[in-house]
Amino acid sequence: MSYKVGVCQFKPELLNYKKNINTMKKMVENTSADLIVFPELATSGYLFSNQKEVNDIAEDFKNSETIRIFAELSKKNNCSYVVGLPEKDDGKIFNSSVLINPDGKYFTYRKTHLFYEEKLWFQPGNTGFNVFEAKNGIKVGLMICFDWMFPESARTLMLNGAQIIAHSANLVLPWCQQAMLTRSLENSVYSITANRTGKDIVNNKELFFTGQSQVVDTKGNILFRLDEVEESIKLVDIEPNISNNKDINEFNNLINDRITKYYK
Ligand code: ACM
Repeated sequence: MSYKVGVCQFKPELLNYKKNINTMKKMVENTSADLIVFPELATSGYLFSNQKEVNDIAEDFKNSETIRIFAELSKKNNCSYVVGLPEKDDGKIFNSSVLINPDGKYFTYRKTHLFYEEKLWFQPGNTGFNVFEAKNGIKVGLMICFDWMFPESARTLMLNGAQIIAHSANLVLPWCQQAMLTRSLENSVYSITANRTGKDIVNNKELFFTGQSQVVDTKGNILFRLDEVEESIKLVDIEPNISNNKDINEFNNLINDRITKYYK
């Protein structure tokens, strides 16, 4: 079964929720697809200066404007969305992503491996690497940005049955896009890395985000990769069931050939 997936690469404006959510809505409202992935912290921007501004823009998912807006879009367009955003729950703040489905259900992942100053603002995620059903029952695993550096993240999602890894990102290091070819190949899963573009500038600090959002197939081939600066939505047709085959040849299988006693 062909499945149309893609990324929405754009430049969130730091702490400007209204502008960001309107940009996000506009980019997808007339787009027909099965699964679209947005960047990490898409509603808020990234380079925070103090805890209060993170707390103020974080959303309680029990009463979240972003989830309400994307649940409506999801139903109208019959498309699943993955959105990265700051979450608050019971006084704790998480760097989260949420899968929102046409039936109104949503599922949350809280970033496990926090990068750099994120450790000042966010609690480490406590969800683990779970796999959820998106539109048409396709199994989607969620991870966020720096999780790429720990191969256990993608491996755990694969062992939990992911056919597609939805990877929301705000990448500043130059290596992830290439590394994700290996994450896809070694797990025989599709990966969708949705990165942001542009800069966040605050006082004398500046971070440049590397764009190049991409979709990679189960053999590590790049199906598309955007450039570093463009703000656009890009889609491609994939066959998620190909990821169910973990055979490398008639002797080798990615799951059965793991020698776990030596992995300690
Ligand atoms: C990152 O994890 N946002 C670099």
